Amino acid sequence: MTYQVGYFVGSLSSRSINRVLSKALIAVAPDDLAFSEISIRDLPLYSPDYDEDYPPQARGLKEAIAASDAVLFVTPEYNRSIPGALKNAIDWASRPYGKNSFDHIPAAVIGASPGSLGTALAQQSLRAVLSFCNARQMTAPEAYVQFDQEDFSDDGTVGSERTREFLRGYMAEFREHIQRVLTVLPRT
Ligand code: FNR
Repeated sequence: MTYQVGYFVGSLSSRSINRVLSKALIAVAPDDLAFSEISIRDLPLYSPDYDEDYPPQARGLKEAIAASDAVLFVTPEYNRSIPGALKNAIDWASRPYGKNSFDHIPAAVIGASPGSLGTALAQQSLRAVLSFCNARQMTAPEAYVQFDQEDFSDDGTVGSERTREFLRGYMAEFREHIQRVLTVLPRT
């Protein structure tokens, strides 16, 4: 059985290091994980005024999550928290009331920054949000990636064997987490 993983890149930057990280993660992931990006780029800003009739971009977002067995968040840290574009996407997905797309979904969080905190504070913020959204988060291992340009090629190739093995281990644990959650709570 293959698990479908929908992944979010929390950056809109054309030179995003987190997009590079997402490629590196996919490259070392177990073979029975299949990945598709869930784009956050074209979503309008969320308002409850849309709840009666979601626009196509937001319907597409919710359909993409519904088609996923699990979600992976690969995010930068902005001002010690979650980038607004990503928070906006989560707000869309969590609504309308009673139709929260993240309910019980297996989820994992990771991120890269040039600094040594490696998005730790953004991840804490994101974990609190996902907790409220009732996602089943992988709590360990944590992964705070200090992005070294020398180590990562744009296509996601990782030069350092140590980093590559760390990311491989992270994705192997995520696969186990997905299986454990879905055994108890199958996606309908
Ligand atoms: C940042 N950056 C940043 N880095 C960090 O470690 N902690 C922070 O709080 C912030 N805050 C922040 C705010 C804003 C508005 C920007 C644009 C940047 C730097 C950030 O880590 C760096 O730009 C990364 O390259 C962002 O990731 P992407 O977009 O390249 O994936």
